[in-house]
Amino acid sequence: MKIGILGGTGPAGRGLAVRLASVGHEVIIGSRDGERAEAVAGEVRERAAGRANGVLGALNEQAAQADLVILATPWDSALQTVQALRQPLAGKIVISMVNALVKNGREMLPMYPPRGSVAEMVQAALPDSIIAASFHHLPAGMMENLDSGLEADVLVCSDHKSATETTIGMLDGIAGLRALDAGSLAQAAAIEAFTAVAITLNIRYKTHSTLKMAGL
Ligand SMILES: NC(=O)c1ccc[n+]([C@@H]2O[C@H](COP(=O)([O-])OP(=O)(O)OC[C@H]3O[C@@H](n4cnc5c(N)ncnc54)[C@H](OP(=O)(O)O)[C@@H]3O)[C@@H](O)[C@H]2O)c1
Repeated sequence: MKIGILGGTGPAGRGLAVRLASVGHEVIIGSRDGERAEAVAGEVRERAAGRANGVLGALNEQAAQADLVILATPWDSALQTVQALRQPLAGKIVISMVNALVKNGREMLPMYPPRGSVAEMVQAALPDSIIAASFHHLPAGMMENLDSGLEADVLVCSDHKSATETTIGMLDGIAGLRALDAGSLAQAAAIEAFTAVAITLNIRYKTHSTLKMAGL
């Protein structure tokens, strides 16, 4: 699959790009600056030492032309980013991995967007697109390092069965990741907010923990 990542030059987008490319997807790291995207993609390919050669860099506008698009900007630029790309994103699956969080001392706190989650705000801003929410709890550094030993469950939610199935299928074969159907897009509020708890645990225990659901 050809996958575009809006705001893909950050740690979250880079980590996802490497893991997706490692199982054969072509991934376009998108940016507001095409040269920056190409440079970051080159660094990513080099660090992956031949295991993520499908990672390319381009403007967000070009990344939005992909078959499926992932939103990986900070929360306060997510809506502005997708609104500008409403036309190329129409009819496509758009997966939001955005968390709305604020740091308060040694703690991360969730912000609560008016519709409950960033993903639901994105669905309202892109009525012609098919929104899913996923990847919120994945530690970026461990994602980019294919030798990190990462093991994590990946929660996926959407109001569209096809989007959930496509997201789960896209992760098929990625070592260490298990994708789980977590229900409708209404679940994104709890999923995004829980990221604050996960990061707070990481701060307190000085680690990069991952989410693993027992009993499934
Ligand atoms: N870091 C993690 O471990 C992690 C894990 C899961 C989910 N997330 C979520 O994924 C998202 C990205 O995380 P990150 O750590 O990669 O964030 P980041 O580095 O702060 O931002 C990602 C990219 O967004 C673009 N961007 C920044 N400000 C922008 C603006 N005003 N308008 C448009 N684009 C802008 C930048 O790309 P250009 O300058 O190249 O355009 C930047 O490289 C966040 O919402 C985060 O909560 C992060």
